[in-house]
Parts: sequence; structure tokens; C-alpha cells
Amino acid sequence: MLTDKQIELVQSSFGLVVPKAQPVSIMFYDRLFELRPDFRAMFPEDMEQQRGKLITTLATVVQGLHQIEDIIEAVRALGRRHVGYKVADDDYAPVGDALLWTLEQGLGAAWTPEVKEAWTTAYTILSDQMIAAAQELRAA
Ligand code: HEM
Repeated sequence: MLTDKQIELVQSSFGLVVPKAQPVSIMFYDRLFELRPDFRAMFPEDMEQQRGKLITTLATVVQGLHQIEDIIEAVRALGRRHVGYKVADDDYAPVGDALLWTLEQGLGAAWTPEVKEAWTTAYTILSDQMIAAAQELRAA
């Protein structure tokens, strides 16, 4: 559960990295494939579109945090599509680590303990929903 204050921290800090979304998204996938080289083969060779989709989706989710119920179905559908991409439940943790690390690099001094906690909670909520929807699909 995110407090209003945490939602504002996630939104304002995301706003700071949006102007450098392109290099930051390159950094994210570089970090992810450094942490998990085995993930590289799951993605297309040309990552440009993928980077764009990730940023657009993150922006939608971040903007929607105050009205989470309006976006939760879209998040769950995203989780179900990831079953088709052969993404396992345990794969969400390294992706979260890469995301937090990238935000830390992108934000520098603006990456405060409060911002870190807010993003950690936001990613947990997002990934829990995606994982739960994936589990329901696999069980169906
Ligand atoms: C909060 C977590 C995540 C978000 C917001 C996210 C976002 C996205 C988006 C927007 C797409 C584009 C396709 C679509 O909309 O269905 C996508 C595709 C994909 N994602 Fe994720 N993702 C997340 C977690 C993960 C994890 C944990 C993995 C594990 C390695 C992963 C691997 C992939 C792969 C392999 C594709 C398909 C690439 C392709 O073949 O084009 N994602 N993701």
C-alpha cells in the first residue's frame, strides 16, 4: 500500500528521469543483462521498441497510482502476457533490482531513502499483481 506522499515521491522522481528516458532505459537493460545474462535471449535482438514500451508502460502506471483500481486490470493483463514470454515468478526480483539500481543512477542525490522505499513498494505492488494474474492463468 502506497501513501499519498509515497505516490507523489514516485511521480516526482519519475518526472526527473523522463527527460533522460532513452539513456536510462539503455542502462536498465544493460544492468538487467549483467545481472541475468540468461534473460538476453528472451528479448528481441533490437531492443529499441522494447525500451519504448517499457517507458510508456511505466509512465502509465506511475501516473495511475492515485487511481490504482483503474489500471489494475491492465497490469494484470500485462502479467498474463508475460506467461507467454516465458517469464517465471522468480524473474520479477532481478528486474526489480535492475529498475531500482537504474533509478538510483538516474536520480543521483534525489534518490533518498524515502524515494527508494516508495519505489520498492510500488514495484512490489505492480509485480505482485502481475505474478498473481500469471499464476491464475497457469492454474486455469
Ligand atoms: C513490473 C514489471 C514489468 C513491466 C512493467 C514490463 C513491461 C513490459 C512491456 C510493456 C512489454 C511489451 C509487450 C506487452 O505489453 O505485452 C514487455 C515485454 C516483455 N517483457 Fe516485461 N515487464 C515487466 C517484467 C518483466 C520480467 C520480470 C521479465 C523477465 C525477464 C520480462 C520480460 C519480458 C519479455 C521477454 C518481453 C517480450 C519481448 C518481446 O518478445 O518482444 N518482463 N514487458
